[in-house]
Amino acid sequence: MDKETIIVTGGAGFIGSEVVRQLIQSGECSVVNIDKLTYAGNLKSLASIEDSDDYRFCQIDICDKDQLREEVFRSRPTRIMHLAAESHVDRSIDGPDDFIRTNIIGTYNLLEVSREYFSGLSGEEAELFRFHHVSTDEVYGSLGETGLFTEETPYRPNSPYSASKASSDQLVRAWYKTYGMPALISNCSNNYGPYQYPEKLIPLVIHKALAGDPIPIYGRGENIRDWLYVGDHARALQTIIKNGEPGQVYNVGGKNEMTNLQVVATICGMLDDLRPLHDGESYEDQIEFVTDRPGHDMRYAIDASKIERTLKWSPAETFESGIKKTIEWYLSNQIWCESVTQKYSGKRLGVLA
Ligand code: NAD
Ligand code: DAU
Repeated sequence: MDKETIIVTGGAGFIGSEVVRQLIQSGECSVVNIDKLTYAGNLKSLASIEDSDDYRFCQIDICDKDQLREEVFRSRPTRIMHLAAESHVDRSIDGPDDFIRTNIIGTYNLLEVSREYFSGLSGEEAELFRFHHVSTDEVYGSLGETGLFTEETPYRPNSPYSASKASSDQLVRAWYKTYGMPALISNCSNNYGPYQYPEKLIPLVIHKALAGDPIPIYGRGENIRDWLYVGDHARALQTIIKNGEPGQVYNVGGKNEMTNLQVVATICGMLDDLRPLHDGESYEDQIEFVTDRPGHDMRYAIDASKIERTLKWSPAETFESGIKKTIEWYLSNQIWCESVTQKYSGKRLGVLA
């Protein structure tokens, strides 16, 4: 039997490229990567697998329904993993337009094209087909000092980004309920790891620290995020698309709650060891507290017991092991970093005038 074909959208991004690398390295399937290559998409992240006979790249905007339809019918996928999105909260504050377009209209287009394609399948092909929407814990809003997000937590998105992801989740749910699209949704906490665009907290801090620039911490640095290593997330996504049940939602998280200040201090401490400054100096001296993000969610924390119990997934990395790998990767991949930072100077984003 031929290998199955999986379409990954957003496969040139941070998480998508990890998913594509893992799928190709498994040798079990062919992958078609559909990506528009926005500022966040980078084909250099796929250099290790780009020559594989099992891999094909298509530069397509998911808002272009005709091109999307043509590619889906040409590839004849057994499954679709949908990661393409505008993903940065601060950019959504500055300009929500692309977030509404890509995250809502783009997801709608992909659902409609997938429905057309799925309706023509029969037998084993129809039974196997899955549509997996990769989403975020930010749809649940913000937690107080206690409690965890479960799959039953009501949606209360607070940023244009999270509102657009909440909308796309609801579309996916409706396509499952109304049209019987075999769709699944996963909502994951903050990812970190190699190949992350240096607008997000962890790569931004590494970049600013090494450049000798001020390291910006929003507000008092007390906001809490629940960090998950990207390799663990990509494994969870593979598990969900293979063994998850259509119509189900799976929360994915790393049980690694930390304040932003703790995260930044950990990175600075590791850099002090790996790239020491002059005597007595620490990268922590570069920390600067800056104006808070508008609508800044206070705390995210995931209850991942459903995926752990039903699909036997659990994270392999602790924050300490994952952040060490991440920092070492950035230190030895400065060429990748320079190629992406050419498109972004590192200036503060998401402050209202
Ligand atoms: P990213 O910004 O690094 O990558 C997004 C990718 O999507 C890029 O390659 C970009 O070129 C592509 N893209 C954007 N608009 C497109 C369009 N109109 N058509 C086709 N391709 C387009 O994002 P990421 O951090 O890898 O996130 C991937 C997915 O996972 C997103 O859906 C995001 O909401 C979700 N997610 C991210 C995190 C996180 O911590 N980064 C956590 C949970 C969920
Ligand atoms: O929770 C999952 C979400 O995590 C994903 O859906 C998003 O795609 C992803 O971007 C991420 O959103 P956050 O807003 O939590 O990530 P970000 O890296 O932008 O910020 C993490 C925290 O650090 C947040 O509390 C804001 C703060 N921060 C961020 C930057 C960029 C700073 O204090 N200083 C900074 O310079």
